[in-house]
Amino acid sequence: MYPFFYRRVLVHLDPERAHTLAVDFLRVMGASAAGRAVLRRLFAPRPDPRQVVEVWGIKFPHVLGLAGGFDKRAECLPGLAALGFGHVEIGTITPRPQPGNPRPRVFRLPEDQALINRMGFPGDGAAAARAHLERTPRLIPVAVSLGKNKETALERAAEDYCEVLNTLHPYGDFFTLNISSPNTPELRRLQTPAYLSELLGAVQSTMKRLSPKPLLIKIAPDLTWAEIDTILDLALQHQIAGIVATNTTLSREGLHSPAQSENGGLSGLPLRERSTVIIRYIRDRIGDKLGIIGVGGIFNHTDLQQKLDAGAVLVQAYTGFIYRGMGFVKQCLRP
Ligand SMILES: Cc1cc2nc3c(=O)[nH]c(=O)nc-3n(C[C@H](O)[C@H](O)[C@H](O)COP(=O)(O)O)c2cc1C
Repeated sequence: MYPFFYRRVLVHLDPERAHTLAVDFLRVMGASAAGRAVLRRLFAPRPDPRQVVEVWGIKFPHVLGLAGGFDKRAECLPGLAALGFGHVEIGTITPRPQPGNPRPRVFRLPEDQALINRMGFPGDGAAAARAHLERTPRLIPVAVSLGKNKETALERAAEDYCEVLNTLHPYGDFFTLNISSPNTPELRRLQTPAYLSELLGAVQSTMKRLSPKPLLIKIAPDLTWAEIDTILDLALQHQIAGIVATNTTLSREGLHSPAQSENGGLSGLPLRERSTVIIRYIRDRIGDKLGIIGVGGIFNHTDLQQKLDAGAVLVQAYTGFIYRGMGFVKQCLRP
């Protein structure tokens, strides 16, 4: 049914408009127990105690979560939980509100089962997200993706990440430093040792002061092996709990869709192999000293299993959910 709805209705809407409608729908349905029951009955897999996993002392109903960027403002967590997601990464959240890049800024590449986005962290800021979270029942584990405002200089980036952490610490089960979005100018330079060491030190000391919770780093798929090695060394030095691998790519290799010329980060099927190779590389290099969340091009159970086989302890998806629709979690968990 969803492919029909997708081809006949959604595909004619601007992708960001379709996204706003989906978030509104999930917000309304998720707000009542009756609405959540309808979503669960229609779309969610049956809970299976054999699928429960414990990572960093947190119990997840299963391995599959929703990746950062879908619920940017923390508006529809109960609806997403009712669809069956095992966790949700909210954000990326910046300290202060900002509009993001001019529209259009999300593009479908259906021939490639991919999306290109250059959102640029639009949002209402950390205090507004906290106001939503204060009113939200905690049904599944929540990760908070920490970001910085566009106008904040790299030299002061740590202050932004710490401010978001300070504001949202009570509401996250774990936290991800997003230093790998290609859509905030220079952000990816925070992955270099000149900035990263100071950033990790500052955020970890804020975390310790508040109360220790797992901190992860989300990395780009466009790094060299040497750059990844450096990040892993710093991560171990600073007691980082894990790596989210990976964010969107700047590569346009092998694409067929006309929209490939748009600027921004590419996600979905073309990213699948690259992110799996990076997961395997990290696992081979550092064993289980860091927990890896595998992200990139998961559309079905085989894709999910490949990420786990490569060494991920949890997985996340975004583009697969957009293309496959509300029954996505059920489809992915079924072998
Ligand atoms: C429209 C869109 C917005 C995104 N926004 C964010 C974001 O705010 N923070 C983040 O860490 N990742 C963001 N991502 C990246 C995803 O979390 C994920 O890492 C990437 O899309 C690869 O996974 P996928 O192939 O399953 O989509 C975004 C992706 C898309 C498509």
